[in-house]
Amino acid sequence: MKNFKRILSVVLCVCLLASTAVSFAGAEDAATGTTPTRLSVTVNGDTSASRGFCWYTAEEADTKIEIFGVPASEYTVEDVVCEEWEGNWMHKLVVTGLKAGIPYSFRVGDGTNWSDWGTFVTDNGDDKVSFINIADVQAGDYEGFMKGADTLAGAFRTLPGADFVSNCGDFTNDSTNEEWDAYDKAFGAMNSHYTLVPVSGNHDGLGVEYWFNNMFALDTTESVQVKDGVNYSFDYGNAHFAVLNTNDLLSVSLAQLKWLKNDMNSTDKDWKIVFFHKSPYSLGKDAKWPDALYLQESLVRTLDDCNVDFAFSGHDHQYIRTKPIAGNKLNEDGTTYVLSGTAGGKRYEIRPFLEGHFLKEDFVDKIVIQREGVGFESEDYIGGCFETVEINGDTLTLKTYIVADADGKITQVDEYVVTKELGENEITFTGDNTTSEAEYALGVIPSFLCLAAYAIANWLPRFFIMLPELLYSVIEYDVF
Ligand SMILES: [Fe+2]
Repeated sequence: MKNFKRILSVVLCVCLLASTAVSFAGAEDAATGTTPTRLSVTVNGDTSASRGFCWYTAEEADTKIEIFGVPASEYTVEDVVCEEWEGNWMHKLVVTGLKAGIPYSFRVGDGTNWSDWGTFVTDNGDDKVSFINIADVQAGDYEGFMKGADTLAGAFRTLPGADFVSNCGDFTNDSTNEEWDAYDKAFGAMNSHYTLVPVSGNHDGLGVEYWFNNMFALDTTESVQVKDGVNYSFDYGNAHFAVLNTNDLLSVSLAQLKWLKNDMNSTDKDWKIVFFHKSPYSLGKDAKWPDALYLQESLVRTLDDCNVDFAFSGHDHQYIRTKPIAGNKLNEDGTTYVLSGTAGGKRYEIRPFLEGHFLKEDFVDKIVIQREGVGFESEDYIGGCFETVEINGDTLTLKTYIVADADGKITQVDEYVVTKELGENEITFTGDNTTSEAEYALGVIPSFLCLAAYAIANWLPRFFIMLPELLYSVIEYDVF
């Protein structure tokens, strides 16, 4: 059986590389008729037994899946969706009842017109998990998306056996049909060969309601709302992962913080990792606004309470890894915050005026700027950024890389290894963690009041104290 799995893994790897080559050569434009496009495979429930699938067709078509070599009687297809959305037809389904630790090959379609064969591997139940993390491709055209696709292809060359890919948000710039088709054209062949963990960015949710939830087949059972993003969680290896939606009432609602606390207290997995878009600790363009700073109070306090090891975010298009932090102070038992850097071509300079005001200097353990300008130093690199994370029992290894624009050369720019005592996390919550519409609605005004009160009492005074340095930055560097 081991040899069979090895052989199948090699075959799948060859398929992935071949697909990547097709992607680089320029895949077909968005298809017409009933040919599936924009196909994604996502986590959905038990990662050892199920996956979610979402795709689009230009015309109405049946919603079916075929798993190579596996009779349909040996798995269950659930939650089938076929709906018109923004001029195309959205298809979703969830496959459950799969076997653990098996590489599967699949295709989706209407029974006549099928996608190409895609692949995924279910979790085998051991104490290992590895993943690739990217963020902020945020492109508006094919050339822009190809920068992100080049970065992801570089990540797969670096960690070909990754269990999943997390994308910390801002998939596109405006979430239009044209942009998602360009995204699909650039990434398409790769996208059907890995399990995705998508995170909603502000460009995926704010002002473009329901787009994010309609692009991916996610388990939204416990999501506090699905209008501008989704929150969900899953286990993989000996780790528990939660995905947050920082579009929720401009930042993060009280309902979502309650969900996160309950969710993190309902697991005894050894590692706890959280993904979200907006960053509480950053020196980027958007770190100066109240919604970002508010996360240092709201979200960070909740992560402190839940024994979270790592938090991956995006939004500010530069790479920053903090030292472990708890209670907004350095604490070796606290959470390490990783601002992912952008996988795409839109990159931010440093905002030096933020240092000492919104981000304490000694919090930063590693920073990499991806473009020339303020803060760029000789050891920085011009290119797309990705991280690899490998958990093996009691050890987590984070490595960060830049894929150079000039020649595609991949350079490692950071490495951080953490070991921890196992068996420390306990299950202290076993109740229902869903949020009713009424409960969410009742929390809207208190959530806004908390954000507003923080903005007035905390953000505003600190912003005014910072203002002279901000103005100097505008005059001296033309950086706001
Ligand atoms: Fe963003």
